[in-house]
Amino acid sequence: MSKDAYTLTSPDGSRTTELPVHKGTLGPDVVDIGGLYQQEGAFTYDPGFVATGSCDSKITFIDGKEGVLLYRGYPVEQLAAQSNFLEVAFLLLYGDLPNERELSSFDHSIRTHTMLNEGMLRFFRGFRYDAHPMAMLSAVVGSMSAYYHDTMDVNNAAAHEIFAHRILAKMPTIAAAAYKHTIGQPFIYPRNDLNYCENMLRMFFAVPAENYEIDPIAAEALDLLFILHADHEQNCSTSTVRMAGSSGTNPYSAIAAGISALWGPAHGGANEAVLRMLEEIGSVKNIPKYVDKAKDKSDPFRLMGFGHRVYKNFDPRATIIRDMCYKVLKQMGRTNSPLFELALELEQVALKDEYFISKNLYPNVDFYSGIIYRALGIPTSMFTVMFAIGRTVGWVAHWREMITDPKGKISRPRQLYTGAANRDYVAIDKRPKT
Ligand code: SDX
Repeated sequence: MSKDAYTLTSPDGSRTTELPVHKGTLGPDVVDIGGLYQQEGAFTYDPGFVATGSCDSKITFIDGKEGVLLYRGYPVEQLAAQSNFLEVAFLLLYGDLPNERELSSFDHSIRTHTMLNEGMLRFFRGFRYDAHPMAMLSAVVGSMSAYYHDTMDVNNAAAHEIFAHRILAKMPTIAAAAYKHTIGQPFIYPRNDLNYCENMLRMFFAVPAENYEIDPIAAEALDLLFILHADHEQNCSTSTVRMAGSSGTNPYSAIAAGISALWGPAHGGANEAVLRMLEEIGSVKNIPKYVDKAKDKSDPFRLMGFGHRVYKNFDPRATIIRDMCYKVLKQMGRTNSPLFELALELEQVALKDEYFISKNLYPNVDFYSGIIYRALGIPTSMFTVMFAIGRTVGWVAHWREMITDPKGKISRPRQLYTGAANRDYVAIDKRPKT
């Protein structure tokens, strides 16, 4: 009986199978079931991958019980307080904090890759005026595989590097072009003399008719939000990028697949859904009615921005964003934000409610972020696009970790088949008439 393995006994007790245990640096051990099918002719079964480790990774660690989030070992609270998004992006991509020369070189590379091919800009004229920005983002990012053929060789490390810098630099430009399309304003070109968040604010809000003054508070708030959204282990969209990329498809198409996954209201689309929910609740007096709806199994309504697959304690990002809400609203002179007051009260009511306590449902990263985006003048339909901008570096880091994994293979899960057993074809004139 090995101490580094589980012993599985067959249902009839006639056979045992050793399942090796692998230990990581932090977090739960994993049971290697790779040999189970050959030895026992059975698959494991875990719909939604609630308890399944899909890969080894060195990028991000989450402890859902303790509310811990580490990027390459650094606590997100320390990075939020002392770092900036571009430095965090370098950390996630390369594994360590940069020295001054590395950061300066990385910053220069990102600043000088923000423009789009003019042909890509023409796509926006083809979208309906009311197209959802996430539809435009996934379409235009996917179209990058029709422009940048020089960086599509997934076995070429130099191509990986160019792809990483290119997509990180261009995501805000594509997002801004989508936003300008929805409001019928002219596209604003990026500027190389502005940093990542200043450039984004200017591309979003500047108009050719007048000078635009960047609000440093807004730039600082965006920078912090991008740090907090940068990566989150094997979440739905990151796992989608890894799975799509495992077929060897080009990295732009893999990222476009991740954007589509993020759009769902159970995932990154929740930040948009939270704001719509708060507006539907309308006032503090309606909170009990909506909390009851969220608890009613016959009602599909869920408290958006609450609950998490991993965090069964506070999402550390939600705590930081809630504190930042105060600061941003105060600095913008909007302390009497009814939406923020409503969110704070809703949080208090839910956290005292037995249903939410018993199911460990706490506010997640999406619960407060929309309130800050709204305060910055970003429309609700753009909230998930903002999430995608921050998460792009996480997707790229995981894509590169996957594509360079010597043990890497195409992801191809199996199933429990519950459909019809084998049966013969019946000619149409022999089939039941009704
Ligand atoms: C993100 O994975 C990541 O890391 C994601 C993310 C990232 O950074 O990438 O953190 C970003 O996606 C955050 C989550 C944003 N989504 C929402 O806020 C949508 C609302 N939340 C839920 O839909 C739900 O909590 C999930 C999807 C987040 C998690 O779902 P799980 O882990 O599959 O849990 P579950 O649906 O099985 O829920 C467990 C129980 C259920 O009740 P029972 O069937 O056990 O009786 O809790 C209930 C659920 O009905 N429940 C809720 C609820 N969330 C779960 N009930 C009311 N309101 C909710 N929000």
